[in-house]
Amino acid sequence: MSKGTYYLTTPIYYPSGNMTIGHTYTTVAADTMVRFKKLQGYDTYFLTGTDEHGQKIEKKAAEAGVTPIEYVDKIVAETQDLWKLMNIEYDDFIRTSQERHTKIVQKIFRQFYEQGDIYKSEYEGMYCTPCESFWTATQLVEKDGQKVCPDCGRPCQPMREESYFFRMSKYQDWLIDYIQTHPDFIQPAKRANEMINNFLKPGLQDLCVSRTSVKWGVPVDFDPKHTIYVWIDALSNYITALGYGTDHDELFRKYWPANVHLVGKEIVRFHSIYWPIMLHALGLELPRQIFGHGWLLFGADRMSKSKGNVVYPQPIVARYGVDALRYYLMREMPFGADGNYTNEAFLTRLNADLANDLGNLVSRTVAMIEKYFGGILPAWDQAVEDPEGEALREHCAALPGLVEEQMDKLQFSTALTEIWKIIGECNKYIDATQPWVLGRDPEKKGLLGNVLLTLAECVRFVAVLIQPVMPSTPGRIFEQLGVTDKALMTWDSLSCFGALPEGLQVRKGDALFPRIDVNKELEALSGGKQAEKQEKKEAKATEKAEKKEAKAAKGHAAPEYPSEISIDDFFRVKLQVARVKTCEKVEKSKKLLKMTVSLGADGERQVVSGIAAFYSPEEMVGKQVVFASNLKPAKLAGIESQGMILCAATADDSALKLLTVEDGMEDGALIS
Ligand code: ME8
Ligand code: MG
Repeated sequence: MSKGTYYLTTPIYYPSGNMTIGHTYTTVAADTMVRFKKLQGYDTYFLTGTDEHGQKIEKKAAEAGVTPIEYVDKIVAETQDLWKLMNIEYDDFIRTSQERHTKIVQKIFRQFYEQGDIYKSEYEGMYCTPCESFWTATQLVEKDGQKVCPDCGRPCQPMREESYFFRMSKYQDWLIDYIQTHPDFIQPAKRANEMINNFLKPGLQDLCVSRTSVKWGVPVDFDPKHTIYVWIDALSNYITALGYGTDHDELFRKYWPANVHLVGKEIVRFHSIYWPIMLHALGLELPRQIFGHGWLLFGADRMSKSKGNVVYPQPIVARYGVDALRYYLMREMPFGADGNYTNEAFLTRLNADLANDLGNLVSRTVAMIEKYFGGILPAWDQAVEDPEGEALREHCAALPGLVEEQMDKLQFSTALTEIWKIIGECNKYIDATQPWVLGRDPEKKGLLGNVLLTLAECVRFVAVLIQPVMPSTPGRIFEQLGVTDKALMTWDSLSCFGALPEGLQVRKGDALFPRIDVNKELEALSGGKQAEKQEKKEAKATEKAEKKEAKAAKGHAAPEYPSEISIDDFFRVKLQVARVKTCEKVEKSKKLLKMTVSLGADGERQVVSGIAAFYSPEEMVGKQVVFASNLKPAKLAGIESQGMILCAATADDSALKLLTVEDGMEDGALIS
């Protein structure tokens, strides 16, 4: 049963150039929100589109030597491809060049004129073409001795034209009152204060709403030498797309007013001043909320094509998949604040949050069910005491509520943080219960079963809850858990913890997010431009690492050990049996080998070790070694090392031998 309707929109973007990761940010956030509401059982409607008229597009098309419609058609097609790639599930894509839109915009304009909201006069002032914004001389700001647009900082042009004007001033007091009595209307709340203090209190100017010098626009039907100002044209899309003003206005009657207009902070002004006044003049309800999110910056600047610092999503998606990028965009910065996009931060999160935290939890859980229960989910054992598990189960049962609370405020990053807390607790629970130890004791079979069931059910909760952000990953998790019943993938199935049925057959699959080598990927993403810089940096790092090693080697000769330590101190170092899976020489280093080692159910680690003078890579592969597995990761020669292989060495470092264990010990076994 539907919980009600939920209508959400993105801005309609200017197809003046290809969409960037900034446009993608808004659209992914919108898609995530709508998917969440849909998951909860709302009847949702999601609108996006393109804002195709105006001077800016007219100029671009002229520069390209094509007509405006030819120019935008191509970009619109590419935009739609991008949204498909990003897994955006919109219900409608409106283009302001479509007749379904232009006809109604003309009708709206005529109604304003007939009811006296619009009058004819002459405009004299300044115009910012990139923003399609009018300014008075006093509103402009000084920059490098030039008067520039207060929004974007670019120069404005003087303009003098016969124009139609909208009597905004008439609605000023009504709007101030409306904003003050509807605290949720403009979010985040500080933007409401900006609107009131910077624009409404100083007095609203009547707005120039037509142009005679712009041909690429919707003509005023009763005075066709005028075209309708792009912002009047553009804002109307939110209702024309629903069939407002036509005989087929079922969608409008069903979904209006919108629940959220999601926009970037620079266009909150248009959405929270002009748009409400237009709607009020039409006798329509206002949207429930305008949410102005922050900017994705690149360095200190907002990304923009003219500054040449644009990031496009396609190459990132091609390398790491769409879910990794969607996760990063929703996780990295609190929604509402500005944040930086950097490849490095993206790659680091990919390794830490997705490959390590989530990926390892899923693979460890499934691997242990395979190992200890032949891949079949056991029955819950009522008789077993497990207080740590009880706390985890309670927390996980509360997770949907915690996520909902954040999502209803559009706080995507906090919602994800809540989910990742459970993932972290699960990984800790594994370390605390040590299923590989329980597995050796037949009397602990019941507890072992409950531990693994708890983990599997937590993984299911996580899979359901990440669906809105990462639409394709949950399917891969369900497949590994052996969940095929759609009823176990729903929001409602999270109403009680423990819905996974006994007897499910789990199946280990490929790593959800393979670990990546951040340096290598950075280079690939920057198109090799950084190669030289990186090489120098690495050579330096190698040199430094070798010096450090030399020093460490000397340290062995004259160790500065305390005369005694407690047994607790000794047990702070987690020692495990590890098997070397891959091994290669570190380029440009005589001493270092890079390896991946397996810790059995604890997953794999990458480690760099200074043993190249004593062992060849071929010799190392397959060996079992003694491994310190809870060391803080460190970088050697620019490569992350996640632990240490133990060796014995002579004082002068002329001989070195690996520590190992006698045959027959399983990988990951604890050494104590
Ligand atoms: O303003 N960071 O279109 P537009 C965050 N046509 N968001 C960004 C961004 C960035 N670096 N870059 C773009 C228009 N955006 C009008 C809207 S609506 C009736 C008309 C997103 O192509 C953000 O949502 O300039 C911003 O508001 C929008 O794209 C601007 O798109
Ligand atoms: Mg803009």
